Amino acid sequence: MASSSCIITIDGPAGTGKSSVARLLSQRLGMDCLDTGSLYRAVSLLALESGTDPEDGPALAILAREVNLHFDWSQDPPAMQIGDRDVSSRIRDLDVSTMVSPVASQPELRAVLNEAQRMVAQRRPRLVTEGRDQGSVVFPDADVRFFLDADEEVRAQRRSLQMSRGGAKVDKDAIRSDIRRRDKSDRSRQAAPLVQPEGSILIDSTSLTLDEVVDRMAEEIDRITGRVWENS
Ligand code: DC
Repeated sequence: MASSSCIITIDGPAGTGKSSVARLLSQRLGMDCLDTGSLYRAVSLLALESGTDPEDGPALAILAREVNLHFDWSQDPPAMQIGDRDVSSRIRDLDVSTMVSPVASQPELRAVLNEAQRMVAQRRPRLVTEGRDQGSVVFPDADVRFFLDADEEVRAQRRSLQMSRGGAKVDKDAIRSDIRRRDKSDRSRQAAPLVQPEGSILIDSTSLTLDEVVDRMAEEIDRITGRVWENS
């Protein structure tokens, strides 16, 4: 693809397949991929381990600033690192997932992590970035902004499958209630609530396969940017 900068955002609730879609799309377009939920999960892990109150925004912001929170871009997908420690799989555990909603609701922490995300985009300006607020808050001027949604039951099913494939013990009811609880918290929080950004493209993946979602996004990107992508 052309070497000029291009930012593509994908927002949406938990379990819509954003991470998988973002990875496949970035591979297809020869771009980098940023999973911003990993940053919130890594800070939640730090809070768990240090006994920090998940509602203490200023303390969480200090934690996030003090440690060297970064991605190892030599891995595929890029590994979430706290200093030299690869926490990519630890941050997917249920204790971290349960903690992450209050942590992600703290505006002081969000300010620090928004800055970190914009720094990544400066260094890696051809970026597919996914999360809850990428098109609404962090990159409102992105070249193309998507909002990926799906039925709750389908999302719980997908998350269960993803966890069982990763070798984790799966409790479907616990996963469904975790998704429901996080949706509620993500949508109702004061700081950067989950919303479909105005002017973004809605994609409902309930009855679409991963490949179909990626195809549809790639078509929209072609249409909007008018670019020719070498890898597509
Ligand atoms: O996408 P995920 O499940 O890994 O996200 C973990 C949590 O972090 C989720 O509860 C929402 C929050 N999050 C957020 O508030 N803003 C983002 N940009 C990414 C994730």
